[in-house]
Amino acid sequence: MLKFLKIFVPAGTGVASVLALAYVAADQFVIDVPAPVREMVAVQPAMAQEAAPAAEAATPITTLTAELSPAPSMAGGYGLGREALAEEVAAWDTDIRPDGLGLPVGTGDVLTGEELFVEKCSMCHGEFGEAVGRWPVLAGGFGTLDRKDPVKTIGSYWPYLSTVYDYVQRAMPFGEAASLSNDETYALVAYLMYVNDLVDDEFVLSNENFTEVRLRNEDNFFMDDRLETEFPLFTQEACMTDCKETVEITMYASMLDVTPDSGVVRAAPAAGGAVEAAPVAEEPAAVEEAAAAEETGGVDMALIEDGEGVFKKCRACHQVGEGAVNRSGPQLNGLIGRTIGSVEGFGYSNVFNDANAAGQVWTEEILSAFLENPKGVMSGTKMSFAGLRSADDRAALLAYLQHASN
Ligand code: HEC
Ligand code: HEC
Repeated sequence: MLKFLKIFVPAGTGVASVLALAYVAADQFVIDVPAPVREMVAVQPAMAQEAAPAAEAATPITTLTAELSPAPSMAGGYGLGREALAEEVAAWDTDIRPDGLGLPVGTGDVLTGEELFVEKCSMCHGEFGEAVGRWPVLAGGFGTLDRKDPVKTIGSYWPYLSTVYDYVQRAMPFGEAASLSNDETYALVAYLMYVNDLVDDEFVLSNENFTEVRLRNEDNFFMDDRLETEFPLFTQEACMTDCKETVEITMYASMLDVTPDSGVVRAAPAAGGAVEAAPVAEEPAAVEEAAAAEETGGVDMALIEDGEGVFKKCRACHQVGEGAVNRSGPQLNGLIGRTIGSVEGFGYSNVFNDANAAGQVWTEEILSAFLENPKGVMSGTKMSFAGLRSADDRAALLAYLQHASN
């Protein structure tokens, strides 16, 4: 207890004298202080001085502040300044709401606005609002908001015309703010609407028809609804068991290359979904076995012929062999060992580009898995092909593709 007091006694005294100083200073700066305030200013320093000895007598700091604050005339404030006059409030209160509240009486037409704009604004914003150099552009940019470099103008982006009026009158011309009359501002706003293809050149804007004007992007502004739309999702109890009805495989670890090279890769599952371990390409014979095909010895022409038959399903989109070019799918020469998504000049989908960036290469088992279920293995691929169910067909096709590209 003693230690506590030693620390706070000097602090209490300090607070009291700072407050006293503030009230004295306040007294000097307040012009035409209304009577109740003047009384309070006179009273406060005295109170503060009284409080100081109280602090020395080891009054806990909480009691000290409680004693200083409750003067009734200070409720909700610090007893500084005075109430603003109605005229002062009116001078500040120039804002205009989208519903038209606050609009001054006035009128202005497009042609008058054009003259004013050329004289007062065009040196920065260009005669048609197209901007000079790097000054802001005020017109155009329609339909660019979803692009990488949106052009945000009154016509393309701003939600309400009231902001245009308010901003121009308050802040423009740059360097000569608040110099425009109401009629001049109406005329300039009318001209800005004209250069944004919202009205024709005979248009007259006034406080009467102002709220009838709608800007293009109004509907894309709405009240922050995250409290209803997102917050409940983030705060609901997390599901910990059986959270998904069906599980879909969208990519294989062996393709993403998340597993360190240990000599074994996980082959894509067969139709049934069972995952078998298959040796890597270092043991080609075994791989071929896993792909359920090929003779150990030379070329199996029968198999290749079968494969050529299967390739009819691909031909609409792919070419293979000498002189093969890209069609709606990339050419398929030398596929095994080729980096995924690597054919020059072909525009692949993201999943292919990602696999390409990861340096993934077509192996027989990856190719077989892909051909069995293209969208399952390369989620998001633009190859519209349902898949080859039959393992025999896939094995024959692989043999044909290899043969044809030699
Ligand atoms: C000396 C150059 C200059 C002149 C002259 C000028 N402006 Fe501007 N204007 C600016 C600058 C700079 C800004 C951006 C200010 C900011 O972002 O703080 C701007 C912003 C604006 C904007 C908002 C643009 C946006 O999309 O954010 C409007 C509208 C506008 N000016 C209208 C006018 C009108 C009308 C006049 C003539 C009465 C005018 N300006 C004269 C320099 C100028
Ligand atoms: C309807 C057109 C179409 C059909 C039919 C089609 N493909 Fe494709 N294929 C594509 C497109 C498009 C891509 C590029 C996929 C992407 O970028 O997402 C592609 C990509 C591929 C790739 C990846 C090549 C690379 O460079 O990485 C292979 C392999 C492939 N297809 C093989 C086949 C085989 C084999 C068949 C027949 C069984 C077939 N496709 C049927 C359109 C098709």
